[in-house]
Amino acid sequence: MLAIIGGTGLSKLEDFEQVASEAIKTPFSRSKIRATRMRIGQQEFVFLPRHGPRHQIPPHKINYRANIWALSELRATQIVAVNAVGGIHSNLLPGSLAVPDQLIDYSYGRESTFFESKLKQVSHIDFTNPYTETLRQTILRAANTTNKRLKMRQGIMEGGTYACTQGPRLETAAEIRRLEGDGCDMVGMTGMPEAALARELELDYASLALSVNWAAGLSEDLISLDEIHTVIERGMSFVSAVLGEVVRITSHR
Ligand code: HPA
Repeated sequence: MLAIIGGTGLSKLEDFEQVASEAIKTPFSRSKIRATRMRIGQQEFVFLPRHGPRHQIPPHKINYRANIWALSELRATQIVAVNAVGGIHSNLLPGSLAVPDQLIDYSYGRESTFFESKLKQVSHIDFTNPYTETLRQTILRAANTTNKRLKMRQGIMEGGTYACTQGPRLETAAEIRRLEGDGCDMVGMTGMPEAALARELELDYASLALSVNWAAGLSEDLISLDEIHTVIERGMSFVSAVLGEVVRITSHR
């Protein structure tokens, strides 16, 4: 079954039918994780808002382990993660989309593995390609189909390197210059450890990223939260349409 993790600007998927609300107990949190079973046509999927149902949990405080564990408990096998990002690559102007194929993790102090206690043996995942290629291709196909169907010319970057910073503050201009030098194309705060935890549980995982601002120092102006909100509102309706198409494509397999 497919699961969608919603990020900033996507705490609900209002366009689709809600089937049931779930509260899942996990070994990693006292409170239960809330997720919603949803449906498009005959196809069921699960939606989990990463920052909590009221968008109240900041990126560095998200219980990534509990979220991924909960999705696995709900029998998810594939996760499409939606991430708001700052654009570093010149193609990633605000409002455009990317489906990254690499990442660099600059976050710290997050609970980032399931493999730390009660181990029979030390374990390491292969993480050469952090995103599942088949799922990336599904998202790209869905994005291109949606572009045609809605007669849009939404910019879509078919790869790129995602930098995960700690947040919750945005970066300095010098930090962005460093990320650019490292080969990063976009920057967000929630891509890790989520991707690695999904791999540890052998779940397919890929990201659909929406650029909501130019990263620090890359435009004339300072970063304005009001502008970000405007871009998010417009961009997330396209993202929702792409997600609907992803669900449809996945059901025809
Ligand atoms: N930096 C980090 N995370 C972000 C940004 C950014 O500029 N925009 C949206 N998420």
